[in-house]
Amino acid sequence: MSLKKIKINLKDKSCDIFIQGNIQTQIGRHLKEKKIGKKILIVTQNRIPVRFVETVKQSLLKSGFKVFTLTLPSGEQYKNLDSLLKIVNFAVKNKFERKDSFIALGGGVVSDLTGFAASIYYRGVNFICIPTTLLGMVDASIGGKTAINIKEGKNLVGTFYQPEAVFIDPTFLSTLPEKEFLIGMAEVIKYALLEKTSKTKFSKIPFFKYLKLNREKILSLDTKAVTNIIYYSALAKANIVSKDEKESNLRAILNLGHTFAHGIEQAYNYKAYTHGEAVSIGTCLASRLAAKHKLISEKEACSIIDLISEYGLPTTVKKPIKLNAILNSMLLDKKVENGKLKFILPYGSIGQVKIVNNIGLKEVRSLLK
Ligand SMILES: NC(=O)c1ccc[n+]([C@@H]2O[C@H](COP(=O)([O-])OP(=O)(O)OC[C@H]3O[C@@H](n4cnc5c(N)ncnc54)[C@H](O)[C@@H]3O)[C@@H](O)[C@H]2O)c1
Repeated sequence: MSLKKIKINLKDKSCDIFIQGNIQTQIGRHLKEKKIGKKILIVTQNRIPVRFVETVKQSLLKSGFKVFTLTLPSGEQYKNLDSLLKIVNFAVKNKFERKDSFIALGGGVVSDLTGFAASIYYRGVNFICIPTTLLGMVDASIGGKTAINIKEGKNLVGTFYQPEAVFIDPTFLSTLPEKEFLIGMAEVIKYALLEKTSKTKFSKIPFFKYLKLNREKILSLDTKAVTNIIYYSALAKANIVSKDEKESNLRAILNLGHTFAHGIEQAYNYKAYTHGEAVSIGTCLASRLAAKHKLISEKEACSIIDLISEYGLPTTVKKPIKLNAILNSMLLDKKVENGKLKFILPYGSIGQVKIVNNIGLKEVRSLLK
């Protein structure tokens, strides 16, 4: 497949996103053209196949870079202060300077962590992202949000720090467990529901319809279909971030399904549902809420729920439901104002959403039951 490029233009900085199968072998050549110093630290995780790390490393060595690798354990629990210090200490020990670079090679955990480290080490070194999960490719590596978790909550400490470049290689997905792939699909489906509001046209047919018609190809990792969905999703996120980097208004639409999702994840101690599963349930609840308020028709709400279910993602919380725990967690969310919850809801027709901020707790309770 030919190389696809997306550029995020921001006030202080721009970021190039490159998408191509096997681009892992060409990374050194692409980076040689950028002013990113001679020394590169690759931060990765132990479940990411070693051959991916080796290929990227060889490509950088061939282009004359001096390469160091730091492998951290896998898992959300390692997106913490300890891992951040490990990266920073490793860089100090190996005499990294301000002009040098950190590369994140992994999923969202590695990119959030390495991006944060890059933003604070020497008050900011170059940061490059090479996502290896679908979620990383369509979401976490794009937009410049970095974070670690602390015991009081997820993503509570972080920075906005744009990468110099993002290299997306869909062939990395061949080793990704199916469950992890579906976490990314929940976000891909979200972009279909934002197509009109994000002003990112997919093609002659709506992205929603493309996902409906190409389910088998996508789930069997057909190269063309998977590259198409990654390219479109990355473009949609890039367009949204270009217009609103710091989430003052438009970027908030990316939270479709997430108010419910955070409540559900937290109520079940992040154990019963993956993030993608919680987002899927959240998107179904948001669609039902929108239909109840006549923002979309019942038929449209059903088509959204059907698509989510066709991708093997859950559409409701399993019984018995921890209703009070979900509601309490939702109330702690940043999106609550004066006891009223704020939701992003489908509106008008599929592809369009709007912010609705007058939903009472009673209504949410009856929806969840
Ligand atoms: N910064 C943002 O804008 C943003 C957006 C969305 C999510 N996130 C963050 O992303 C994180 C979740 O990211 P994730 O879903 O990528 O999870 P993850 O980074 O934990 O990766 C999932 C698992 O897959 C393994 N893995 C990764 N690539 C693989 C591959 N190609 N083959 C085999 N195994 C592989 C990892 O080692 C890990 O065990 C969360 O911490 C979330 O907060 C950030």
